[in-house]
Amino acid sequence: MAVSKRNIVITGGAGFIGSHVVRLFVNKYPEYNIINLDKLTYAGNLANLKDVEDKPNYKFVKMDICDFDAFYKLMQEEQIDGIIHLAAESHVDRSIKDPFTFARTNVMGTLALLQAAKLYWESLPEGYDGKLFYHISTDEVYGALKMNKPEGVEPPFSTTASSTEHHLAYGDDFFYETTKYNPHSPYSASKASSDHFVRAYHDTYGMPTIVTNCSNNYGPYQFPEKLIPLFINNIRKGKSLPVYGKGENVRDWLFVEDHARAIDVIFHNGKVAETYNIGGFNEWKNIDLIKVMIKTVDRLLGNPEGHSLGLITYVTDRLGHDARYAIDSTKLQKELGWEPSLQFEEGIEKTVKWYLDNEAWLDNITSGAYEHYYEEQYSNR
Ligand code: NAD
Ligand code: TYD
Repeated sequence: MAVSKRNIVITGGAGFIGSHVVRLFVNKYPEYNIINLDKLTYAGNLANLKDVEDKPNYKFVKMDICDFDAFYKLMQEEQIDGIIHLAAESHVDRSIKDPFTFARTNVMGTLALLQAAKLYWESLPEGYDGKLFYHISTDEVYGALKMNKPEGVEPPFSTTASSTEHHLAYGDDFFYETTKYNPHSPYSASKASSDHFVRAYHDTYGMPTIVTNCSNNYGPYQFPEKLIPLFINNIRKGKSLPVYGKGENVRDWLFVEDHARAIDVIFHNGKVAETYNIGGFNEWKNIDLIKVMIKTVDRLLGNPEGHSLGLITYVTDRLGHDARYAIDSTKLQKELGWEPSLQFEEGIEKTVKWYLDNEAWLDNITSGAYEHYYEEQYSNR
């Protein structure tokens, strides 16, 4: 697809993955206008983008994606060509406690963006030409895979991150682009629903859309309620590490900057109406990953090996806890030439170092002070 999309809205840009996507686009494409649209919920934090906030091609707009009128006006005023939609409620545990908020933001919010984009783009002489609605989704919509690794076969732990050289770690199947949707949590059900709406706008109205489904991300700026930053923070503070169930659930981890690079490649070269799975062939059992984190944090803090192992505390399992996620990203690798850049060992080292070097960022969030700061900064906008 030709690069004709210059005025771009990235929703959810002050959250974890969105901030990496905004940073990449603002730095890489000085000729684009990048608008970061975010409501700044508890998960949105403008400190994530301090390094780009003064760039001339960057603008922040505080807005709720459910606000159809405001978004339609923004589309008109900024003559938006492309939407990269990441804003969402994203934490499974919160969705179990409060599913309504997830349906509101993830389903109704996505629908509001789609309908506003439809009305605006259909009003233009060129119609949908050179336009794109790119929806960022999760592999969790596919449900859960079985754990049926043959006895005696050890997981690779360090994969080559290449589809031709990896092998299955904990089961005999992957999520493919063709895998039937089968979401289990309120979070994944809401994301699945939003994916269906996006595809419906292509199939019904001809809107150019792309959906991508990515595995678990890790890296800098992740809100410390998710496993990796929560545990790094707790280890440094000597607090207990709540492992759900037996810690045997498997997740497939991708470094967040690799996800952002995939989004760049797909936004520019992806085929309209296609789905791409994004992942690094990097499956880990939670408990093994936790032990690597403990080892890395202890080493970097100068603690003796094994110092923080005693913090592991097995707690009641998450309701409906999905056993295993593992994504096959061969299509993306073969068709668009994307590959993850980091081995997991490098990625986790880089991530732990980042959180330890940015204790003020962590402390600010965990103290809750940042919410008041943003209330003051943006309450009048
Ligand atoms: P996050 O929770 O860190 O950030 C979400 C952002 O969306 C926040 O900045 C928040 O303020 C904003 N937001 C929430 N509700 C909003 C609303 N109503 N209006 C406007 N903004 C709102 O999430 P994340 O982990 O960065 O995930 C981003 C996207 O990627 C989500 O769509 C998620 O489903 C998807 N995804 C995440 C992962 C992962 O491992 N984190 C993996 C695959 C896909
Ligand atoms: P999480 O980071 O919440 O991502 P997701 O649920 O979207 O995969 O959790 C990753 C895994 O870690 C998941 O299997 C749940 C588990 N987990 C814990 O064992 N303890 C925790 O405190 C958290 C937050 C997660």
